[in-house]
Formats: sequence, C-alpha cells, structure tokens
Amino acid sequence: MASVGLSFTPAPGPPPVTRIVPIGKEHLAGFHSALDRIARERAYLAQLEAPALAKTRRFVLDSLRNGAVHVVALAGREVVGWCDLRPKSAVTQRHSAVLGMGVVAEYRGQGLGSRMLAATLESGEARGIRRSELVVRADNAPAIALYRRFGFQVEGTCERYLTVDGIDHDVLLMARLR
Ligand SMILES: CC(C)(COP(=O)(O)OP(=O)(O)OC[C@H]1O[C@@H](n2cnc3c(N)ncnc32)[C@H](O)[C@@H]1OP(=O)(O)O)[C@@H](O)C(=O)NCCC(=O)NCCS
Repeated sequence: MASVGLSFTPAPGPPPVTRIVPIGKEHLAGFHSALDRIARERAYLAQLEAPALAKTRRFVLDSLRNGAVHVVALAGREVVGWCDLRPKSAVTQRHSAVLGMGVVAEYRGQGLGSRMLAATLESGEARGIRRSELVVRADNAPAIALYRRFGFQVEGTCERYLTVDGIDHDVLLMARLR
C-alpha cells in the first residue's frame, strides 16, 4: 500500500544506559558499524571506511586470541564506541601494545572515551603491558588531551604520515610507560 505520508516520532524517553564491556561475538557487527561511521568522517582514522565485516570479525577474533584487550561502549544494546590494545608479536616487544579507540559522534564528550581507556589500560597492565602506544593526527585536539590526561607523552612527530583528500597530515607518536 502506498505511504500516505504519516511520520512517526518516537516519544522522548530517558537516554539509554551506557556500559563498558569486553567485546563479544554479539558485538562484532555493531563494532564494525561504529568503526565504519568514524572512518567515514575522514578526520581521525587511517582507514576511510571499515574493512568488510568478515575481515573485521576475523581480525578481532585473531587479536583476542593473541592477547588483545578490546572493550566496547554500549548505549542500551547499541555499540557506540570501542577501545582496543593489541600486543606486538615480536618476541622482544610483547610488553608493548598498540591502542586504538573511537566513540560515534553523538556520544562524544560524555565520558565514554575516558571510561573505556581506563578499563583497557588497567586490563592491559594486568596482562603485563608496560608500553602502550598510538599515533594520533596532530589536529585531533580532544584525543590528544584525553591521552595526555592518562599519562601518554608525545615521543615525536611523524610528518606527512597520512594523506586525506589530497591534504597531508602529521601524526604524533604517543606512549604511556608503566
Ligand atoms: C577521542 C574520543 C575517543 C574521546 O572520546 P569521548 O567519549 O568523547 O571522551 P570523553 O567524553 O571521555 O572526553 C575526553 C576529553 O576529550 C575532550 N572532548 C571530548 N569531546 C569533545 C568535543 N566534542 N570537543 C572538544 N573536546 C572534547 C574533553 O576535553 C574531555 O576532557 P574533560 O573530561 O577534561 O572534559 C572521541 O572524541 C572520538 O571518538 N573521536 C573520533 C575518533 C578518534 O579521534 N579516535 C582516536 C584516534 S587516535
């Protein structure tokens, strides 16, 4: 039947409860979708879209088997952010791990990033991670402020590290030592 132009506006309700939980198989599609949304903003990540869902799924499950910490932020049942810390594989670098994170735009600035980062770093340290590192675009002030607040220090600038839409961007290498 043809639509007669009725529109449905959901009744305003309380905002969904947010929780930080370890990623499970049930969160993989939601994680993929959050990653894809943030990559497509073209302002923060090295990827400009998420890899295919099957590839993302394999990557997450493999990295969990290799000792990664990976949490997601849930709003109700929706995945609205993630934070992961992946140990390096070389025998001389297993105390060292690479951090990545993101929160979808409408949930930023509400403390989810801080909660995820605290939980991830604590789990990483309990597993023997003594060096957590990341690269962040030099123009990403909120992320840099957050990392500094958690004890990350700038170790250097990697110049023209990323090119997006024909514009080169520097990134900062930041690390937190314990
Ligand atoms: C960086 C990011 C994960 C932080 O998550 P978040 O949930 O917004 O973080 P929080 O709410 O815990 O806020 C952390 C700090 O960031 C700053 N901040 C957060 N959102 C901000 C915004 N929209 N504008 C300016 N500052 C902001 C605040 O200064 C806050 O510090 P405060 O607690 O002293 O006020 C989130 O902004 C994000 O996903 N950005 C896009 C993806 C990205 O940059 N990923 C990291 C790539 S290295």
